[in-house]
Amino acid sequence: MNILLVGSGGREHALAWKIAQSPLCRRLVCAPGNPGIGKHAELRPELKATDAEGLAALAREMQANLVVVGPESALEAGLADRLAAAGIPCFGPSAKAARLETSKAFAKDFMERWDIPTAGFGVYEKLNEARDALKVFKPPYVIKADGLAAGKGVAISPDRKDAESEITRMLGGRFGAAGARVVIEEFMDGEEGSLFALCDGTRAVLFGGAQDHKRAFDGDLGPNTGGMGAYSPAPVFTPELVGEAENRIVAPVVAAMAREGAPFRGVLFCGLMATEAGPKVVEFNARFGDPECQVLMMRLAGDVVPWLLACARGDLSRMPAAPEFRPQACVCVVMAAQGYPDSPLEGSIIRGADRDFGLHVQVFHAGTRRDEKGALVASGGRVLNVCALGDDVAQARERAYAAVKAIDWPGGFHRSDIAWRALEPRD
Ligand code: AMP
Ligand code: GLY
Repeated sequence: MNILLVGSGGREHALAWKIAQSPLCRRLVCAPGNPGIGKHAELRPELKATDAEGLAALAREMQANLVVVGPESALEAGLADRLAAAGIPCFGPSAKAARLETSKAFAKDFMERWDIPTAGFGVYEKLNEARDALKVFKPPYVIKADGLAAGKGVAISPDRKDAESEITRMLGGRFGAAGARVVIEEFMDGEEGSLFALCDGTRAVLFGGAQDHKRAFDGDLGPNTGGMGAYSPAPVFTPELVGEAENRIVAPVVAAMAREGAPFRGVLFCGLMATEAGPKVVEFNARFGDPECQVLMMRLAGDVVPWLLACARGDLSRMPAAPEFRPQACVCVVMAAQGYPDSPLEGSIIRGADRDFGLHVQVFHAGTRRDEKGALVASGGRVLNVCALGDDVAQARERAYAAVKAIDWPGGFHRSDIAWRALEPRD
């Protein structure tokens, strides 16, 4: 098969690494890709993930049998719709179905329509209405920009004054058009987890869970980021929680999206809060999590391509009832450029990232590039994803941090407490 993979981050490197191992894959092309992905695929660095027309043309030209979409920006740009029109199977939903992620207002209204458990909320376009609405909510206040803001469009404000200034900033254009509307939400207390389901438009198969670490610094402190590390399996996903999430969230979402004329094909990423009243949706995403995808690909036993293809073709019925994951745990430590998330330092040299770390460790590239002399340098916020398998979370973490230590990159930083929740005594 000829496969086109779209994206350029650590998530896509993990997908490329896994897809390239498939006996079904004859040719793998990645656009735009990164130097790490270049070890597994031909790269098309000139094509941006948002260039739906150019990517569809490439898919036609290379006679792609499958296109795998990594980032939400490509979905929002309508890549899946263009590929559907060209008759090319695409792993990733239409722009209409991707609104579960690309519009928080759509997602919240949808959940309200179909009685899917989530935080109470209101959607506001006018500053005075949003400010007035704060009276109805209790602190801490959860304020979100409606549209895509690279995981940074959420503020949790301890008091009214702070909440008002966040609302003013968001509606005042801090996130451009993505902040034309704000969502104010009830605060949910509990532990978070990322649950994945592969969907073919009418059916869903659970595809594992992981726990991300959204804050920049140790102890879950500092600004929100796209994710500083992940591990799987995560103890938050008890069989009861997963069962409840499947019955009350995943299955109804897939059925309701089909009923609303926007069948969901691809991976539904449910950001969940395990509350006292059961799992509630924090957010949906219409793609794999980054860095959650990295740990799932490391743990997945067997071939990923049949799963991706079955979703893209709209028929999961002939696949097993559940994918097989290795019993081992995986921990992923994100190495980010200093200054991330606000203003990551660009261009610092990284040494030792591409050496062979042995069977249990993979270093996926996210924001990297080669400079004029061929040296690997940082070119983005999150730069490397150091992933390790182990017999348990503790061993996986030890191996991951040993590899982090062996990478010589003074321009980077990382959290030193990834997977802490799995290693602390639980009440
Ligand atoms: P989101 O981009 O919607 O996932 O929000 C980013 C982060 O803000 C989440 O991972 C949560 O930690 C937090 N968050 C968002 N919504 C809520 C909520 N209603 N209650 C508590 N925490 C929230
Ligand atoms: N790691 C969270 C996300 O991909 O949105």
